[in-house]
Order: sequence, then structure tokens, then C-alpha cells
Amino acid sequence: MSQRLRIALTKGRLQEKSVELFEAMGLDCSPIQSPGRRLVHAIPNYPLDAVLAKAPDVITYVEHGVCDLGIVGKDTILEQGRSFYEVLDLGFGKCRFALAVKQGSDFYGTYKTRRIATKYPNVARTFFEKKGMDVDIIKIEGSVELAPILELADAIVDIVETGATLRENGLVPIEDVAQVSARLIVNPASMKLHKTELTDFINRCERELECRV
Ligand code: PRP
Repeated sequence: MSQRLRIALTKGRLQEKSVELFEAMGLDCSPIQSPGRRLVHAIPNYPLDAVLAKAPDVITYVEHGVCDLGIVGKDTILEQGRSFYEVLDLGFGKCRFALAVKQGSDFYGTYKTRRIATKYPNVARTFFEKKGMDVDIIKIEGSVELAPILELADAIVDIVETGATLRENGLVPIEDVAQVSARLIVNPASMKLHKTELTDFINRCERELECRV
């Protein structure tokens, strides 16, 4: 009997796409689709249990080895660092990190230290360090777009998907910071201990992704 694997899925948009992928791989995801208040869902026709979690927690569970695998956005991976294997780009959840400013503002045309509002301080810090630019980073928890409007910040570093949020708030992207999509991550110890089971699962994912190209 093969060892059951445990996977942490990011709740919300990535959860829906993950379930679509699993169904296409032949996994019966009905327990995840009507979860009720249950937190762990056994896949009836494959040795896999799924846990639904917020993106940063997906990384925490995989890093601690209580989940063998996880599906999480590259945005969270870039922000939180990594001590896990990133084994597959799943090709969904595509968006980008961008630097955006108020329409008409000249971000680079001043010598004063710019203030950058973001939910992703590590991503923003790395971006400006690479440029050799000294900036003040202000961590915001909610709608970052408010910060330039309220003149708290000169620019934001945030996720842009359709660009609608920026447009509707009079902001424009001026530079791409990083591309984002959902990734399959694996705990390194699990990779050694449950190699056969993990290889089977990863191969099935890969085969399904190849069919999509
Ligand atoms: C993200 C991001 C932007 C918005 C961009 O927020 O912070 O506000 O999406 O999307 P758009 O380019 O399609 O308009 P999200 O909706 O993920 O909510 P969050 O504030 O919980 O991160």
C-alpha cells in the first residue's frame, strides 16, 4: 500500500484552478468542491489528502514537512523566501509584479528618497537593491493603490493581473518587477522519503500540463 501524500492548496482562485488540474489528471475532487467546515479532504481514488490554506501558510506547512507538497503563487514564494523544491510551473494564476505610479508623475526625475507602498516588502526591497536605489518601503495590508492617492507613497509595487485596479485609480505601471504563476512545491525530506509516490504525482501533473500546451 502506498504512502498517502498530503498537499496544501492555496484557497481561492488558485484552489479552483488546482482542482481543475487534478480532475483532468483523473483525481476525484468532489470532497474539495463541497468542503463544508472540514479542513482535510481525502481524495477517494488517489492516495492524496488536500488541505486548504492561505498562501503564506502553504509555504509554512511544506517547509515544516507536515505537507509533502503545496500549490502556491510565485508572488508568495518571492516574498517569503524558500527552503523547499519548486518543481513545476503550473501555468495558471498568471500575473505580474509591477512598479506603478500616479499618471503623469515622474518617478525617476527626482533625487529625494522615494517612498514605496507594498504588501510585498521583500520583493520591493530586492527590486530596488538590484537597481542600487535607496527607497523607504511602507508595508500596507489592504489596497495598496490607496497609498499614492493619499500621497503616502510615490509608487507601489503590487500584483497586476488585468490592470483594471490601477486604471480605475489613476495609476500606471512603469516597470515589470517579476512574472508570477502558480508553482508546485515539495518538501525536500518528503522527496527522499516518498520519492515513488511524489514522482508518480509530479509525472501525472506534467503529463496533463503537456496536453494543455
Ligand atoms: C490584487 C492586487 C490588485 C489587484 C490587481 O489584489 O493587489 O489590487 O489584484 O488585479 P487587476 O490588475 O486585475 O485589477 P487581490 O484581488 O488579489 O486582493 P488582495 O488585496 O487580497 O491581494
